[in-house]
Amino acid sequence: MSTFDESTIQTSYEYIASRLPDEFKTVKLGIICGTGLGTLVETIDPATKLELHYADIPGFATSKVVGHASKLVFGHLGDERTPTVFMVGRFHFYEGHTMQQCTLPVRVMKLLGVETLIVTNAAGSLNVKQKVGDLMVLQDHLFLPGLVGSHPLIGHNLESFGPRFPAMSDAYNFRLRQLAFKAGHQVGISLNDMHEGVYCMVSGPSFETSAESRLLQQNSADAVGMSTVPEVVVARHCGIKVLGISLMTNAVVISRGRNAKMQVMIDAGLPCDDLIHEDIDRDALVANHEEVLETGAARALDMQRLVKKIADLLVLD
Ligand code: 6GU
Repeated sequence: MSTFDESTIQTSYEYIASRLPDEFKTVKLGIICGTGLGTLVETIDPATKLELHYADIPGFATSKVVGHASKLVFGHLGDERTPTVFMVGRFHFYEGHTMQQCTLPVRVMKLLGVETLIVTNAAGSLNVKQKVGDLMVLQDHLFLPGLVGSHPLIGHNLESFGPRFPAMSDAYNFRLRQLAFKAGHQVGISLNDMHEGVYCMVSGPSFETSAESRLLQQNSADAVGMSTVPEVVVARHCGIKVLGISLMTNAVVISRGRNAKMQVMIDAGLPCDDLIHEDIDRDALVANHEEVLETGAARALDMQRLVKKIADLLVLD
């Protein structure tokens, strides 16, 4: 297993820091832009914007998922012009990166001075109250890979970042969650379209079967996705406050699907106890990456306005 030591992180940091003008020497806000939020950086002032491609940063992996770019962007966000570092495109465990590689940028953010991290992602809704296009503020998480050994803090503990056994019971800061709903209200997002819930991270890359989705739903998950939690855990380890927002890009199908035995009995005219005909078009319900990208694009503007407002309220808080 490869683990990072301080010098790898330091090398990445020094490359980035050496390219930063004075105004970005300390950035207190970091944002990881998931599906649907990549366009946020197109709205920041081009006069002061600085882009560094992951491929050019020593230690950084490169991300190649369709719909995800790969750059670190520095810019002034919102009316308050908060100096911010954006990750446009993240590293996913399913791409074959180690958990340490996926979370290196968060360690670097810590060295850059980040105190608050906003993480966004696309997720499948496991809760009937959350419709496609709705937003879910993360209240808690289930880190399935982490619970069974794929965890970014395994290995030598980096004492300068945080403790060997960090608590995760308060991973998602209450004040920031409140701020998110306040910001949502102020930018005109109906609070009926914005929820709070538990995000479950699975490794992917396959989407869940119905049985797997039921397993997660019955164990308190409101949404499922393939990212975010490793970054959150590493941010919390080093004391960065975290706000997580998921965009519900699709509704996860929980039904049991067609019962083959029942169908044979019906066709043969045999008595069958359980005559529940399911007429839904199952092909239309299968999760697919295109649907995830389409919903992301449709909600992009709302997400942008929300995150900008959160940044402005953070300053005023
Ligand atoms: Cl349905 N599952 C997973 N694992 N990730 C997703 C998703 C579903 N929808 C968006 N991302």
